[in-house]
Amino acid sequence: MSYDLVVIGTGPGGYVCAIRAAQLGLKVAVVEKRATFGGTCLNIGCIPSKALLHASHLFEEAGHSFAKMGIGVSTPKLDIKAMLGFKDQAVEGNTKGVAFLMKKNKIDTYHGTATIAAPGKVDVAMDDGSAQSLETKAIVIATGSDVARLPGIEIDETRIVSSTGALTLEKVPGKLVVVGAGVIGLELGSVWRRLGAQVTVVEFLDRILPGMDLDVAKSYQRILQKQGFEFTLSSKVTGVDSSGKTLKVSVEPAAGGEAKVLEADVVLVAIGRVPFTEGLGLEALGVEKDKRGRIVTDHYYRTNVPGIFAIGDVITGPMLAHKAEDEGVAIAELLAGQAGHVNYDVIPAVVYASPEVASVGKTEEELKAEGIAYKVGKFPFLANGRAKANDETEGFVKVLADETTDKVLGVHIIGMEAGEMIHEAAVLMEFGGSSEDLARTCHAHPTRSEAVKEAAMAVEKRSIHM
Ligand code: FAD
Ligand code: NAI
Repeated sequence: MSYDLVVIGTGPGGYVCAIRAAQLGLKVAVVEKRATFGGTCLNIGCIPSKALLHASHLFEEAGHSFAKMGIGVSTPKLDIKAMLGFKDQAVEGNTKGVAFLMKKNKIDTYHGTATIAAPGKVDVAMDDGSAQSLETKAIVIATGSDVARLPGIEIDETRIVSSTGALTLEKVPGKLVVVGAGVIGLELGSVWRRLGAQVTVVEFLDRILPGMDLDVAKSYQRILQKQGFEFTLSSKVTGVDSSGKTLKVSVEPAAGGEAKVLEADVVLVAIGRVPFTEGLGLEALGVEKDKRGRIVTDHYYRTNVPGIFAIGDVITGPMLAHKAEDEGVAIAELLAGQAGHVNYDVIPAVVYASPEVASVGKTEEELKAEGIAYKVGKFPFLANGRAKANDETEGFVKVLADETTDKVLGVHIIGMEAGEMIHEAAVLMEFGGSSEDLARTCHAHPTRSEAVKEAAMAVEKRSIHM
């Protein structure tokens, strides 16, 4: 078979790229080695984790918050099997949706493992045991990422789990030790804490959520501690003894020193993800990778081998589904002769625990490091009418604007639905807007988004409700 484009991998990068290219008139095929489409995100990432976050949040709310609003319910009972079933349905609905979109856009689909035999030639070892050879003008590698492992600690996905195993635990662990205070650790730690686990997070650095604004990270740590999370910062896990009924987790200070032992029923290893390129045949082709195993691309997603492109988790940049999707659109448009691009200065990041954390643009630490003079406007949800009405007053909005031009350079939010609120800041920043623009935009009352406007007003110390 002969194509304009063969996309390897159908995660958010790959399937979006395929659809956009088909919309633009290219003859497109995708190759996927997983039984279902949607990649990490739909199968074992964004979607199942959010389904469990939603269900576990409601479980906790029913147990703790309903009574004070005058809603009498008997103590909620957990049916873990049914909750996992709810999550599986969410996954199925989404992956089937992608299968439908493939058909709708007349994209040929191959279920099997792809190897790039040469530029313009993709060999597929099909799941049914047969082989296919596809001729194509362009190849986009969108093979995503895999779990980073800790040397000497074997993940069995039952007692010592990665995020994948943490999405399928059949019983709530009494004690859960999470290695890594990044996004996965806090989100999946939240799920199991809400369902009854005692959660201890061991983090190598002296802070949680590296990369997020430090002020935000510190406040968020306090909020999580109030919820029952325990943090052991500046520490590393050096081994897990799984010989007994209870796991024995050895934890040492990051700088070295005396080890202590934590007991756990389950250990979740969440220390990051690594690009996945196994079996593609890149070494034989001479496709360049960096020290961290990421495929090196230029501004147009070209690798050093003509006709071979790469996007998503397998290249540099944040390992986020929406970043992969936007790159998928950009490369499809470039291949169709248009001017696709991604603005890497405006990629929102969200932690979907409760309350949520959302961020777009620069942190204070980044602005300081770059020597950019900035102004800060901050507004707490404690002073927001809607947050007070709902009794959800934790968190704040912080707007960072250029000292001289007033251009908004970063917005950081801790609060309920922060992940929805962040997008007005993203749109503003995409248009190069100022804090004055944000402050003078009429916001509906009573909404939490008024706190975004008030934080923008606070940049010039003129917020009304503070
Ligand atoms: P992937 O989604 O990893 O897809 C790659 C696909 O390529 C896979 O299906 C794989 O089977 C296939 N493949 C690999 N090699 C071959 C081959 N040789 N032949 C054929 N097929 C191949 N991001 C967010 O933005 N928001 C979130 O809420 C979020 N939550 C997450 C929660 C968890 C638990 C995890 C693990 C990740 C989460 N992420 C989230 C990250 C997000 O899943 C990734 O950034 C995103 O999936 C990357 O998309 P991708 O298209 O680059 O690759
Ligand atoms: P991460 O990079 O967010 O966090 C990993 C944490 O582990 C860091 O704080 C790091 O300092 C720590 N760490 C590393 N080695 C350690 C060690 N030996 N001992 C103790 N701590 C150690 O990675 P995470 O949470 O695994 O997530 C992987 C990727 O998936 C991220 O890049 C993230 O963007 C993406 N993701 C995104 C989500 C979202 O957008 N809501 C949700 C889940 C994942």
